[in-house]
Amino acid sequence: MKAVILAGGLGTRLRPLTYSIPKSLVPIAGKPLIRRVIDTLPSSVDTVILAVSYMKEALEDYFRVEPCGRKVILVNESSPMGTGGALTNVAQHIDGTFIVLNGDCVSSLDIKAMVRGHRETGGIGTLALWEVEDPSAFGVVEIGRNMRIIDFQEKPSREEAKSNLINAGVYVFEPEILDYIGKGQVSIEREVFPRVLEYGLFGQRFEGFWVDCGTLKNTLVAQREMLDRESPPVLSNLDCQQIPPNLIQSKEMKGCHIGPNVCIEPDVRIGEGARVDNALIMKGASIGANCKITGSIIGPGIKVTDNESVVEGILANR
Ligand code: GDD
Ligand code: MG
Repeated sequence: MKAVILAGGLGTRLRPLTYSIPKSLVPIAGKPLIRRVIDTLPSSVDTVILAVSYMKEALEDYFRVEPCGRKVILVNESSPMGTGGALTNVAQHIDGTFIVLNGDCVSSLDIKAMVRGHRETGGIGTLALWEVEDPSAFGVVEIGRNMRIIDFQEKPSREEAKSNLINAGVYVFEPEILDYIGKGQVSIEREVFPRVLEYGLFGQRFEGFWVDCGTLKNTLVAQREMLDRESPPVLSNLDCQQIPPNLIQSKEMKGCHIGPNVCIEPDVRIGEGARVDNALIMKGASIGANCKITGSIIGPGIKVTDNESVVEGILANR
């Protein structure tokens, strides 16, 4: 079976980090986001098609060095074609029922069970659904009998939203869906879903966790979720106070306070008296003495000078 991952977005809400790293390669507790997405696919998926445009080379380099155990095909868009146009652009690789995932969401969804459920409906597509309190930043569905979707609204106002069930960004489609996309830049959410309702679009709810990593806050929420699930060992040979969970891959620190929810990549230095919590400190960064870093991402090679505070910020070179 084939899975298409939509990974061509610009990651604007994670700038300036995403000027030098595509959103899909931002590490979530030690693994690039895209790898976390791929690892949720069932073993029946032997080919992953990455629909990319922005910073394609960085993704090519990553998969050359870190193969993921499945065939990976990168398909480029010379300019972003939208979430629907991206599927038309990979159509030559589709040959049966296929999976599509937004490349920026991590979740506990059981995709194997979702595919099984999809086949039972006989419809053209199935969407994974997640319940939220405020659906206005998402795609919203109205559900009829037998979990059939009778309306789809992309980012409605809170008052107009017809339910609290949102599109979690994972779909199982029959190849016929490609016939309803059309040419050029197309949004699958705004243009295609409303058009194919009559051919049977179904929803499947799931529980557990789901995070769209599009923002700083959510990237750190996803990191926490992964650290809680994977609980990396607390290292005893470090000269620092640790409040787990953390993933610490550098030893160059002394007399500092780390955690909870901190990931420190290799070659990072942390100065005396520094306090770091709820943060991602990337390769080669250095945090000076008595700094306070909280709710933040410190990008590769960035130096934070002594006594500085970074609160809910993203620091990165352009
Ligand atoms: N190849 C390609 N080309 N990929 C794209 C393009 C494009 O032109 N535009 C966006 N993508 C990718 C992004 O990289 C991301 O992985 C995914 O498609 C969704 O785009 P976002 O820009 O992150 O959309 P969103 O988060 O505002 O909304 C979408 O996701 C929500 C769930 O997180 C919609 O699908 C909503 O309906 C949904 O609820
Ligand atoms: Mg998103």
